[in-house]
Amino acid sequence: MKVQHHLLLCATPSKPLCGDPQLGAASWARLKQLIKERGLERPDRPEGVVLRTKADCLRICAGGPILLIWPEGIAYGGVSPERIERIVEDHLIGGRPIEEWIVAQHTLLPSRCSSQRSTS
Ligand code: FES
Repeated sequence: MKVQHHLLLCATPSKPLCGDPQLGAASWARLKQLIKERGLERPDRPEGVVLRTKADCLRICAGGPILLIWPEGIAYGGVSPERIERIVEDHLIGGRPIEEWIVAQHTLLPSRCSSQRSTS
């Protein structure tokens, strides 16, 4: 399966350290709805599917709820149902991250597993 993006949202963490859990739950509900409505989880989508995961904590714990998007490693803060709408349209579909809402950006190091596989 080809994956375009994986989204993780600290929607309803067991210790709500970074935001209002009600806002997180409403944002999660809107995210699920929009991904379905826009056909982003269809396995035959040419760009790949968009996966979503409700995470407990994304280790930022400030200015949340936090939405982390891979492969860019972009973390958006202050997530709300309204922000989710623009993130889906501009970032996921349009390919244009929304700079003013980004609170962190992580970079993954190249995987050692893939280089080991290619030499065997
Ligand atoms: S609780 Fe949201 S990042 Fe930790």
